Formats: sequence, structure tokens, C-alpha cells
Amino acid sequence: MSATHSDALVFFGATGDLAYKKIFPTLQAMIRHGHLDVPVIGVAKAGWGVEQFRERARDSLDKHGGVDAAAFAKLCTLLRYVDGDYKDPATFQELRKRLGGAEHPAHYLAIPPVLFGLVVEQLGKSGCAKGARVIVEKPFGRDLESARALNRILLTNFAESDIFRIDHYLGKEPVQNLLFFRFSNAFLEPIWNREHVQSIQITMAESFGVQGRGAFYEEAGAIRDVMENHLLQILANLTMEPPAAPDSESVRDEKVKVLKAIPPLDPAHVVRGQFRGYRKEKGVAADSQVETFAALRLEIMSWRWQGVPVFIRAGKCLPVTCTEVVVRLRRPPAIYGPPPPPNYLRFRVSPDVVIALGAMAKVPGEAMAGAPIELVASHPPSGQEMDAYERLLGDAMKGDNTLFAREDYVEEAWRIVEPVLKAAPPVYEYDPGAWGPAEAARIAPPGGWRDPAATPSEPRS
Ligand code: BG6
Repeated sequence: MSATHSDALVFFGATGDLAYKKIFPTLQAMIRHGHLDVPVIGVAKAGWGVEQFRERARDSLDKHGGVDAAAFAKLCTLLRYVDGDYKDPATFQELRKRLGGAEHPAHYLAIPPVLFGLVVEQLGKSGCAKGARVIVEKPFGRDLESARALNRILLTNFAESDIFRIDHYLGKEPVQNLLFFRFSNAFLEPIWNREHVQSIQITMAESFGVQGRGAFYEEAGAIRDVMENHLLQILANLTMEPPAAPDSESVRDEKVKVLKAIPPLDPAHVVRGQFRGYRKEKGVAADSQVETFAALRLEIMSWRWQGVPVFIRAGKCLPVTCTEVVVRLRRPPAIYGPPPPPNYLRFRVSPDVVIALGAMAKVPGEAMAGAPIELVASHPPSGQEMDAYERLLGDAMKGDNTLFAREDYVEEAWRIVEPVLKAAPPVYEYDPGAWGPAEAARIAPPGGWRDPAATPSEPRS
């Protein structure tokens, strides 16, 4: 890991949607927290000058979080703009000129993935890649082969330690907390294995549809959009071995190791669904077979986890918006009446943060009879949380790779989902507001799915 701080931030796709919704608000937040004091150069082809670019920044902030007068004034002094086509070498010569004395720029590719290769090659040819870092947005490829091809282009122009593949879930506080909680408490380790864990389930539910992103979603589907990246990252945090040290490579080594222990998905253990109405979305084919829901079962064939089934499901237009992990332990023996339900740990990752331990406790009264309770630790949003993008951009500019996917990791992740992309099982329709299609009942943990509730704590087995 290089300790040199980037001395300029360049972002491609400066007039695009991601810049408008996320990047300008992130830049303003970085300035407010004293984390950004280098030139910020936007690149796009819109026929604009820097004034229009600043206007765009103001408009973006107006709509997304509000303008902070002092931070915005500072942002305006940092903003530069280069107008030009990504195919045209002159655009990159101009960029090289505008970088001036900057020797370690960070180039952020906030552009459609089809353009990643082109821009990276142009950065290389123009000399803009020298001493620089590159930050690549998701999706990183659309299968194993395209991910490898993209890695080859990137690695021809940048060292692996200077490549930052974004998965914004890694920048989320509660996702980091999964690692912290596991490796900062002694009570978990003795039970965190096949001897004590019965099953693992991860649900990422969204109550909304594709929100006008039909054309993008048609190229993705739930498996590419969130399972191959966000949800495998959550699983890796839950199941990896303790890292030898907290540095980026030790952590990333363990993540890769746990993915290596996961065999490619068996299409027979995957159910795909599509919400009714999806095919009427703009940019969506009338006979689309793209999944907006998927449920799958996999196994980690490691010493620690072999035999523990893992269930993952994700979908759009489900009853709630919530990402939750439930790790069920093996059932206790029955002493007082019928066998009690298994204890479990519940990690709610979004929209709020909850860690809960599910247990049984006696109900007051004469009988030795109990009811499920939860011991709950929750963090109501304080407004002080660092946004995932702010954390990730800041880390990339510092040269800290810990929260970014390494080359071998992304290739392992694609290897796991590849069979389902190549021989996709049929798609079944479901009504918006349902937990996926009826067929998904086939892929369910012992004791069934625990559907996340809209409110965080509601003890159930
Ligand atoms: C994105 C997906 O990566 O993550 C979206 O493309 C999804 O489809 C989003 O809605 C979820 O992110 P968050 O941070 O809102 O949970």
C-alpha cells in the first residue's frame, strides 16, 4: 500500500447520473470534514465550460442533501472541467495538461462499464496513468471472462495496489461491523462453525422496482446486480477466517480464501423470479427473462463451514426495504416441553443497524414455559455516519485498498455465479409486495426464511 495521498481527483462521467446523485454530495461532505483539498477535474462530453459544471454541482447538491455555502464555495475553487470524447486522444492530452504538477492523480470511472477499457487505455497512452490510481465503479464485468479481460486492461496500465474496484457495500458501517463484531468478541468464535451453526441466511429486500433504470437492469438482473458483489461480500465478512493482521492484504487474502471454498452454484439450487409489471418498464424487453428476484443455496466446503447450508435471496418489489443476516444455531435439547427453537444471531445491515441474539426465556407464571426473546443492540441513525462513498473515495485517495475488491476476489465471485448466468433456470412471476414467486419456497433454510420486518426488533424464531 502506497502512503502517498492523491494530489488530484479526476472523475469521468462528470455530467452523468452517478455524479449528480452521489459524487457532488460526496465531494461536498469530504470538504466539510476536511478530507478534500486537491483539484477535482470533471471529464465529459457535453460542450460545457467550468461555469456550467459548477452550476451542475450546485443543482446536484440542491436536490441531494443541500448546499453548504462554505463547503460549496471551496468546492468551486477546486473544480476544473475537461470537455471531450473518450475516444479522442486529444481529450486525454488536455487532461494531462490540466493535471499540471499533479503526480499522483486518482481517476474515478463513474461511467458505463462498456467505456472502462477505452478510458483506461487512453489514460495509459496519454501518460495520465503514470503514478496514478484508478477507481472503478461496479459492475466489474458481466461474467468471469469479461471480468478477466477488464482486469488484464487495468493491470497493463496500473499496478494492482493502485486499482480500487468499488463495491459500495464495503463502505457501509454495518458491513464493516460484521468483521469488527466477529473479531473483537471472544464469545462468538467457539460457536462460529459447523459444530454449532445450523444455517446462514441473508436477505436483501427492496420494496421498490427498478426506478427508471430498466435498460441498465436488463443487462444485469438480481444475481449480477447485488448477489455476485454486495451479498457475497457480506457472506465473506461473516465466514472468513481471522486475518493475520488488519492490513488490507491480510484481510483480502482471507476473503479470497473463503470464496475459493465455495463451489460454483448449482442451477438446481437457484430460483429466479420477476415482478409482474417489470416488462412494462422503460428499456425492458416485452419478453424479458431477467430476474428481479433470486433465491439460492450454496455451501462453503471449508473445515469451519462444511455442511452448513447458506441461503441468499434478493429482490425488487418485495414487502420491505431491508438487508438482514440470520445465523441460526443448532437446536437445544428439549427439557421443558417441546423442543425450543434454535438460538440465532441477527445482523440488520440496513436501513438501520441492529445486532440481536434470539433466545428463549421463561414466561412469568406457574408453568415452566417460555417465549422467544431478543437481546438487542441497535444504533439508531445519528446523522454522523460516514456515507459509504465518502469513506471509499477518501480511502482510495489515501491508497488504502482494504475496502475494495482485489483482482482474485472478483474473479472468484464470478466463478461462483457463472453456472447460473450460463444456464439460467426459468423465471417465475411474482406479485409486487410478495416475497418472490411461490417456487422460491423450495430454497428455504431449515425452519424457513425469517422475513425481515419493517421495524427492527420483533423476536421470532
Ligand atoms: C446497487 C444496485 O449496487 O445497490 C441497486 O445496482 C440497489 O439495484 C443498490 O438498489 C442498493 O444499495 P443501497 O446502498 O441502497 O442498499
